[in-house]
Amino acid sequence: MAMAAVRVERSVWWILCGLFFLVLLGATRVARSQTIAATPPMGWNSWNFFAGKVTDKDIRDTADLLVSTGMRDAGYVYVNIDDTWEGERDAQGRIQSNSKFPDMKGLADYVHSKGLKLGIYSSPGAKTCARYEGSLGHEEQDAQTYADWGVDYLKYDLCSYGMVMGIQAPDDPTKRNRLMREAYEKMHQAILKTGRPMVYSLCQYGMDSVWEWGPSVGGNLWRTTGDISANYDRMIAIGRSQAGLAKFAGPGHWNDPDMLEVGNGKLTLDENRTHMTLWAVLAAPLIAGNNLTEMKPEVAAVLMNKEVIAIDQDALGKQGNRVYEEGPVEIWAKPLTGRSEAVAIFNFGSSPTEMRGIGLHLKEMGMGREVRARDVWAAKDLGRIGDDYRTTIPGHGVVLLVVKR
Ligand code: GAL
Repeated sequence: MAMAAVRVERSVWWILCGLFFLVLLGATRVARSQTIAATPPMGWNSWNFFAGKVTDKDIRDTADLLVSTGMRDAGYVYVNIDDTWEGERDAQGRIQSNSKFPDMKGLADYVHSKGLKLGIYSSPGAKTCARYEGSLGHEEQDAQTYADWGVDYLKYDLCSYGMVMGIQAPDDPTKRNRLMREAYEKMHQAILKTGRPMVYSLCQYGMDSVWEWGPSVGGNLWRTTGDISANYDRMIAIGRSQAGLAKFAGPGHWNDPDMLEVGNGKLTLDENRTHMTLWAVLAAPLIAGNNLTEMKPEVAAVLMNKEVIAIDQDALGKQGNRVYEEGPVEIWAKPLTGRSEAVAIFNFGSSPTEMRGIGLHLKEMGMGREVRARDVWAAKDLGRIGDDYRTTIPGHGVVLLVVKR
């Protein structure tokens, strides 16, 4: 009798443990799905192609094209208006959009009707970088205006606030840093007060190791460098400078090496693939910046490669790092869920025609003797490979593998 009671008690105990575990699992899943930017944000921003010329029509056309090209379904959901949308303030100090954007609320509704989200841009300074109206002294009012319009994402660009810092603390870098953090925190609090979820994107070009304090002022992403341009050397210099920053990124808070230039300027197919691969391995936000009205199929194929996007968006949320280098050839690896790893082999050599051969260096990567591998850009399973695997890559080119022990 006593033995039977103990058995019943034990099974009740195990059932309770099981229930507790299920509740915990559910809560973790809900928490993850509610985290803003649980994976690096994906979308499109007006600056890299349209710069100061962007209009309401460009944004509507882009929204249409994000849908018809398949970009939205590939994950590019934010449509971000960068600098030069701002008009004057009205008598109550409320910011107005300028004549290029006659109806912001209408535009937001249009973007939302396409299953997309709207992003906007401002500065903690009195003026933005293009010398339009900034948010200094109007933070709460501006955040509320964005929320009323239906904005889902704010890029907050230091610009003329640098002057405020310089005037208030010319000889005191610690105080300048404090002022900058306070300015970013102020807008963070203003956004929270609206009650509308918005991705908060800090842009201050990586000053004062922003990756160390970006999350403490509410940043979901923070620019780690100065501006990118549609130039291979600039793009790889930015990408390669991210080595060592992996530990600062994770779900809800990402290093941002700036928006994509894929499809812009004279970047070749190899260069566009290198750009996309580097950004995916870095778990970087994927914010396209090309003119979608004339997107070449080869550019669409780079931006929408599902396997590359999956590497960037992997739920583990780990940024990759450089693991091996031999002259201009570098191997970068990014841990993925399911004990897999993305391994990118770059030939950063200056001449596009100079081929470089290289092996895998699995042992140096701590990956054992052999792995099952898939070549992502070639869309080809390679079976099991070891350190004797060799590949030859042209200058500016890349081989991207997903490997599993
Ligand atoms: C820069 C910023 C660019 C773009 C530009 C607009 O400071 O880094 O991404 O936003 O301002 O004026």
